[in-house]
Amino acid sequence: MTVYRTRKGIPFFHDKTESEFQKDVYERYDEMVIRQSALHLADEFWYKYPFQSVIDFAEKHYPLERENNILELGCGVGRWIASLAQKYPKSNCWGIDYSYQMLKRAKEYWVDGKEITIDLSKRGLGVETVIGKKISNLNFGLAKAENLPFDDNSQDLILSSFLIDRLADPEKGLTEMFRVLNAGGKLIVVTPLNFDNAAHWKLYYPPSQIAILLEKIGFEILAWKEDIVVDEPLDGHGNNLHWNCLGFVVGKNRCM
Ligand SMILES: C[S@@+](CC[C@H](N)C(=O)[O-])C[C@H]1O[C@@H](n2cnc3c(N)ncnc32)[C@H](O)[C@@H]1O
Repeated sequence: MTVYRTRKGIPFFHDKTESEFQKDVYERYDEMVIRQSALHLADEFWYKYPFQSVIDFAEKHYPLERENNILELGCGVGRWIASLAQKYPKSNCWGIDYSYQMLKRAKEYWVDGKEITIDLSKRGLGVETVIGKKISNLNFGLAKAENLPFDDNSQDLILSSFLIDRLADPEKGLTEMFRVLNAGGKLIVVTPLNFDNAAHWKLYYPPSQIAILLEKIGFEILAWKEDIVVDEPLDGHGNNLHWNCLGFVVGKNRCM
């Protein structure tokens, strides 16, 4: 797929315009990048990893093979895909996101091994400095989940957390994931179903509607869990966002 430009080592597979940048809340450094950095890169703030329940659900379904193409969509600051890249050092791992600011933070921490200071003093939590890693089998690129820069049947494992309810067209995103997933591969999704679009609340509820959609696309459902809880900490007074998430693992049949 075309690379429109590269900024700070991050390829743009989507030609993101100035107006798209301005409309995108995830490009807001203070609000979004600092929050995501605190959540995923500085467990010191919380004495635990707030997204551990996502990992606990997913890791039972990780591949047995050591050499894989692994892709995370909506990777944010990159912690999940980085954990896979470290677990499978012979794999080729990509983190894809639509926000340049998220990807810049992900690359500086996980690939360039930089030291990062995260200031949560406005939330009563102080300042933490964390030192990044230099993971060589990990790449980050800007693209939309609905239009991926990967060949058909090219990915052995696709991951996504807190993304599909953000998509303008979740069906299009899931269909694109099906296209790039290899036969025998798996897609693992965890989502709070906290849709941006009013119509999607009706269209995809109850969650069995999503099961019907997945089967219509051609996926085979391998695991389904409707009670994954993520408590996203907000500040130093113990306030948090309590997310009730759906998790599913789907496969693409080898004989398709
Ligand atoms: C709520 S954050 C979740 C980040 C991380 N996966 C997590 O679980 O904390 C949503 C992420 O998806 C990205 N995103 C939103 N729409 C996207 C799209 N169409 N394609 C790819 N990424 C997208 C955002 O830039 C943001 O980093």
